[in-house]
Amino acid sequence: MSENTRETLTITDNRTGKSYEVPVENGSIKATDLRRIKTGPDDFGLMAYDPGFMNTAACKSRITFIDGDQGILRYRGYPIEQLAEKSSFLEVAYLLYFGELPLRSQIDEFARQVLSHTIIHEQTKKFIDGFRHDSHPMGAFLSTVAALSTFYGEGKHIFDANNRLVQFERMVAKMPTIAAFCYRHSIGMPFAYPDGDLSYTGNFLNMMFKATELKYKPNPVLEKALDVLFILHADHEQNCSTTTMRGIGSSHCDPFTAISGAAAALYGPLHGGANEAVLKMLVEIGSKDAIPEFIRGVKAGEGKRLMGFGHRVYKNYDPRAKIIKEVAFQVFEVTGRNPLLDIALDLERIALEDDYFVARKLYPNVDFYSGLIYQAMGFPTEMFPVLFAIPRTPGWLSQWEEQILDPEQRIVRPRQIYLGAGKRDYVPMALRESAVTQTA
Ligand code: ACO
Repeated sequence: MSENTRETLTITDNRTGKSYEVPVENGSIKATDLRRIKTGPDDFGLMAYDPGFMNTAACKSRITFIDGDQGILRYRGYPIEQLAEKSSFLEVAYLLYFGELPLRSQIDEFARQVLSHTIIHEQTKKFIDGFRHDSHPMGAFLSTVAALSTFYGEGKHIFDANNRLVQFERMVAKMPTIAAFCYRHSIGMPFAYPDGDLSYTGNFLNMMFKATELKYKPNPVLEKALDVLFILHADHEQNCSTTTMRGIGSSHCDPFTAISGAAAALYGPLHGGANEAVLKMLVEIGSKDAIPEFIRGVKAGEGKRLMGFGHRVYKNYDPRAKIIKEVAFQVFEVTGRNPLLDIALDLERIALEDDYFVARKLYPNVDFYSGLIYQAMGFPTEMFPVLFAIPRTPGWLSQWEEQILDPEQRIVRPRQIYLGAGKRDYVPMALRESAVTQTA
């Protein structure tokens, strides 16, 4: 910084001619500093209008770094490519929460704790049983997660660090069990209990797909592929569901309730529901020949979007999508090629050459290929958002932990710009009707 430069911003209000100097810290100004900018004593002060939080940082975080222009994603500084290749999901969960890669003794203890929590209370099972036989697993899943707060009431002691850690281990452990039980309930299969001999993802496959065999043996390629997919989904800084987690968490409720809300935010087709929407889109397109007409419809704004394309932050190829594309080919070696893959590959190629998508920097996101893999592995489409919520759990809880410990955080309460009616007096019903008759 030269002698003449300062880490401040000078704003001139042309309404009043006054100038204000506000500090710049970490490339941002405090929105509350704008409140000094007033046209008169009765003026509330200037606000920033930012629907969808396009340019508003709501927290300082040390967990996940994204450079959307370069297509970079790092957890706690470690590139996602290295973690996907060399790490395991449980190790990544540990890294997200504690901030450092574990020593052997630390990961063994963490895995032991997680294993000890995989079984769910028999009453939770009854709760799942209460859902309609054909209920959507995501609705059943997020309701059951909320119900955990009734089983583990101590979770509300959120300022007790050890208590928070227990809830973290408990939730990382129980999410796959609840997810698999909700699925089996939806298809009328008896619940398959956790198997302590298996890995985190191997055990999840066991609870999902075990039939009459005495011991379920997961296919190692599929088990590893699922582990990689879980690593890729573990955190993604301040996305819609994490922002919901922080928003609910800001009222200091228990983590089970907050996670249930985060999972609800994940459910929508613009977020975690996108891979299901990608599959529906590929089925609707039906053949490679129909791609140009589909693209034409998207560009003409005929109510369709190219699902699995575009991202609020990435204006480059989503680094997770690159890894997932490689995983897809490994999985198809085992399961046989998903016939929709050829449509997806052509769709991607055509879109990436098209000016509409190039100009808007729309590239494949994490959801473009993940649905194809999950489908090939035998997961029904209704399970896709659940498959996102399981691995996002350590991310949500790490962000929540960070929020709880951050003295700058407050209860979330945005402002609004009120454009409704001014003050008017209540009109009794009889007079209201005569007023309508008179104006008709
Ligand atoms: N297909 C066609 N056009 C698109 C798409 C798309 N998938 N995404 C964005 N655009 C266009 C918009 O129409 C808009 O064009 P315009 O400037 O001519 O009006 C421009 O690109 C910017 O789009 P916005 O909607 O303003 O971008 P935003 O950041 O609000 O939305 C989102 C991001 C929701 C992800 C969007 O790209 C989208 O709907 N994608 C499809 C759904 C999807 O794949 N979601 C998964 C995201 S990843 C995740 O949540 C895990």
